[in-house]
Amino acid sequence: MQISANIRQASTLPGRFYADRAIFDEVKEKVLAASWLYVADAEVVKNPGDAYPFTLLPGVLNEPLVLVRDKEGVLRCLSNVCTHRGKLIVEQPGNHGSMLRCGYHGRCFRLDGAFKSMPEFKEAEDFPSPADDLAKVPMQEWMGMVFVSLQPAFDFEEAVRPIMERVGVLPLESLRFEQEGTQEYNVKANWALYCDNYLEGFHIPFVHPALNQALDFKQYDYELFRFCNLQIGIADEGQPNIDLPPNHLDFGKKIYAYYYWLFPNLMLNFYPWGLSLNVVEPLDHERTKVSFRTYRFESQPFNRSENQLEITEMEDEAVVESVQLGIQSRFYKQGRFSPTMEKGVHHFHRLIAEFLGK
Ligand code: FES
Ligand SMILES: [Fe+2]
Repeated sequence: MQISANIRQASTLPGRFYADRAIFDEVKEKVLAASWLYVADAEVVKNPGDAYPFTLLPGVLNEPLVLVRDKEGVLRCLSNVCTHRGKLIVEQPGNHGSMLRCGYHGRCFRLDGAFKSMPEFKEAEDFPSPADDLAKVPMQEWMGMVFVSLQPAFDFEEAVRPIMERVGVLPLESLRFEQEGTQEYNVKANWALYCDNYLEGFHIPFVHPALNQALDFKQYDYELFRFCNLQIGIADEGQPNIDLPPNHLDFGKKIYAYYYWLFPNLMLNFYPWGLSLNVVEPLDHERTKVSFRTYRFESQPFNRSENQLEITEMEDEAVVESVQLGIQSRFYKQGRFSPTMEKGVHHFHRLIAEFLGK
């Protein structure tokens, strides 16, 4: 699967990329396990001793992990599998005091994952060894959000740096999670088709009549970085726009939204009122769960247009599900890119091809 660096000559990923189970299995290991995935907000483990168990991409990576905050306040991600006979250690989120205890035969671990104690093991030889500790999983905290990676193939800070350079001036520390507008959607399509669709504004005039009214489509712009890209929507007359200081790169532009995509599966949409996070999680090769999470700037009026985001989402899902059917046709092989409007999709396909080639 090769994607030419020259968008004028390049073809898209082939249809089978989105429909083939074996290719999906390869993507799982080479892309998803190698990338940084959003798992939760750091809020879920606020206090020393708090532990939050979760499964990383249930049914896909299917990895049982646990976030733990120790008494110094350090946050870690550990394997949630007991090193004795493999029971899950933490079954429910909550406070676990100063250690994690397995409920099967009582093996205890410190909050940094180190083996602590175990009944009836005095006679075991060469015990305990480092193999009895819980594995530590690479983890990053950013804007109050926790990301983990099973086998990181790139540096997280490098990946998000371009985002911070642009939106770092916004009051990000005042972002608060809002239940309103937080929603899950199930899409009958491959996760990458959902991303492809997000990565171009080309379809806006065709698919989203209401959104098209709010944006000045002629000024819609794309910027590519190594592991993320940006689409800039310019507000039409009378629409709210993001407040920027005079020394900002985009000062003077009426920014309706910064639409950031972080490879491989996260969208961060900054609006005047705050952030809409879209977490795209494959359930299998042809089903995807998309979680919309809303965060508002405390200082800003919360005039998020609920209906509009919901309508736009329904319109996007309908086209993406239609494409999932289309790409399986015997007559569809692959497509070409619009050099002006599909730079983001091309960027994504190049990254996929790069990771699959590793
Ligand atoms: S499986 Fe955990 S103590 Fe036996
Ligand atoms: Fe769309």
